[in-house]
Amino acid sequence: MVLKDKILEELIQNSDTYISGQILAEKFGVSRNAVWKSIKQIKEEGCKIHSINNKGYRLISCNESLSVDRISTHMSELSRTLDLSVIPSIDSTNNEAKRMIANGYRGNALIVANEQTNGRGRRGRSFYSPKNTGIYMSFVFSTDAKFSKAVSLTTISAVAVVKAIESITNLKPMIKWVNDVYLGGKKICGILTEAVTDVETGLVQSIVIGIGINISTEHFPDDISQTASSININGLSRNKLTAAISNELMEICSDLNNKAYIRTYKEHSLLIGKSIDFYKNNVKYNATAVDIDNEGGLVVKLPNGKTEILNSGEITVRLA
Ligand code: BTN
Repeated sequence: MVLKDKILEELIQNSDTYISGQILAEKFGVSRNAVWKSIKQIKEEGCKIHSINNKGYRLISCNESLSVDRISTHMSELSRTLDLSVIPSIDSTNNEAKRMIANGYRGNALIVANEQTNGRGRRGRSFYSPKNTGIYMSFVFSTDAKFSKAVSLTTISAVAVVKAIESITNLKPMIKWVNDVYLGGKKICGILTEAVTDVETGLVQSIVIGIGINISTEHFPDDISQTASSININGLSRNKLTAAISNELMEICSDLNNKAYIRTYKEHSLLIGKSIDFYKNNVKYNATAVDIDNEGGLVVKLPNGKTEILNSGEITVRLA
């Protein structure tokens, strides 16, 4: 990591206080002038840093740009096995992943974008993806048959997102079945998992997991302005969170027989114990959500006492 990134990292870690130029200089074995130059560069990159004479520097907010270097610094060994790319602007990282696969790519990759001009959500909806204020990322898994279990990958991805957020903040995000992540009653993250099949064999060839997180987006389009929100934490590093999500996902995927992620999913479930309405073939039913099964299905109890397992595909669930 270059000095500027090391200093930014230090400011992010200590964003609740001021750190003097002297301490930063000693910590990184450089002159105070070198620290001052780095601070200037960091400000030029879009971060707001407050400085007080005799006290030092404090990070107020930061839109540090996403980069392969910054993300990989925080990546685990497993995450570093992914082919990582960062793109300033793209229609959709899931589309890009599918184009790569169509062009013969057969590895495991992570594509991250700073902006999407045609971000896609589930059920043909769009995903609002403005520049600089979110993370839009797609994993491509093609080299291992175990990844063909797309259903549990959706569940796993939601778990990876909440664990990653918790690992670097004090927040307690929740999961609304099947894979929306909520904070303070509003959606901050959506996940779109897609399977690419081989036309000749009809078998799943690759899996694409697209994750979109609102980090500091303030204004949303009218249709989602009441339901969408952002993480909104001073100094939260998008690079670090991107790496943390990848680390959690790769860790869970390294041992899919270990169902501990289901326990984590349940602990974060927004629905369990609540009365819900679900829609199946356009018919509305009322039930109580009681559990998540080992395949990520939502177990509900109907008013007649019968239990049913809902699988994500064609079901829409709302809190009653
Ligand atoms: C949803 O909320 O319905 C799912 C949203 C998924 C959005 C992510 S952002 C990265 C990837 N690329 C896309 O076009 N969509 C996913």
